[in-house]
Amino acid sequence: MISNLQIDSTTVLVSKSLDDFEKEIHSAFQNYTRVFLLMDMNTQVYCFPEFQKAFPASVKIETIVINPGEESKSIVQAEQIWKQLFEANATKSDCLIALGGGVVSDLGGFVAALYKRGINYFIFPTSLMAMTDAALGGKTGVDFLQIKNSIGVLYAPEKIMIATSFLKTLNEREYKNGLAEIYKHAIIADDSLWIDLKSNNFNYEILLKSIAVKAKVVNNDFYEKGERKILNFGHTIGHALESYALINNMDMLHGEAIVVGMMIEAELAFNAGILTQAIKEEIVNVLSTKFTKANLSKVDFKALSDFLLQDKKNTDKICFSLPSKIGKCEINQFFSLEEIKKATLVYLELV
Ligand code: GLY
Repeated sequence: MISNLQIDSTTVLVSKSLDDFEKEIHSAFQNYTRVFLLMDMNTQVYCFPEFQKAFPASVKIETIVINPGEESKSIVQAEQIWKQLFEANATKSDCLIALGGGVVSDLGGFVAALYKRGINYFIFPTSLMAMTDAALGGKTGVDFLQIKNSIGVLYAPEKIMIATSFLKTLNEREYKNGLAEIYKHAIIADDSLWIDLKSNNFNYEILLKSIAVKAKVVNNDFYEKGERKILNFGHTIGHALESYALINNMDMLHGEAIVVGMMIEAELAFNAGILTQAIKEEIVNVLSTKFTKANLSKVDFKALSDFLLQDKKNTDKICFSLPSKIGKCEINQFFSLEEIKKATLVYLELV
């Protein structure tokens, strides 16, 4: 059975198998002159064969394959794809599909948004991270000057088709990477999802609830003027950590960074009197049970602060979105580096 949601102008279809989308795929792509498909070498091996089978043979797919990993989310990589599109004479009557995780969908959206001022764009997310967060809501972009997502544009895809059968290609670490965003959605906006997560293993209904949280928030505030900022819980610290990890060759996935971010930011919320001790402890305990703790003992707080100050969300003070209870989040909470350091040290003692 297909679930159908709307996020801004994008139709989002969710089902357990790609085969369920047979009709939708046919009607979405039959009228394009050519279909360009962006994927990385992993999705080429693990997902493209299934994808190709579900695609009508009459539609010609031209593939663009990139290296896997965050390093591909760069202006240089975007430029190479634009060159390939120009060399192939891609026009505005063609479209681009991203088949992959968050890196492929962020980069693909960025390329599609700017190529000839925008060609139609579709996403088939293959990772849990992309299914529950990265592919949803029109955020596209690349990392620049080693700052995560610092160049980008909001560009709504035509359609997103989520087939959870792709999840079987993920290893445990990739799974948990996406799961981190689902926990975030529960903490900021859905206490019933939090209860489900505490007592169940991941399942399809949990994914649907998580997607529904993202859809509701983005539909209320596509341009992130207010409410959408709640999605940044865990990300102020998390993005700084990821940028730090990027230049220090530390192996850290986005979800791993935001789990740390959520714990430190829960501490910050408690210190500021926004969150009770009991709920802060519940958040920290659940996250430490469900996720492996990252070892930050070698992280230099001074270097981390430089990234915090560069984060595109900040002006001169550091801006956070912090939970006030399970299912509710307050935006525009400002803190000094001293206050952040105090909360970070508490996390370090936990590891
Ligand atoms: N990933 C956060 C957002 O889409 O706003």
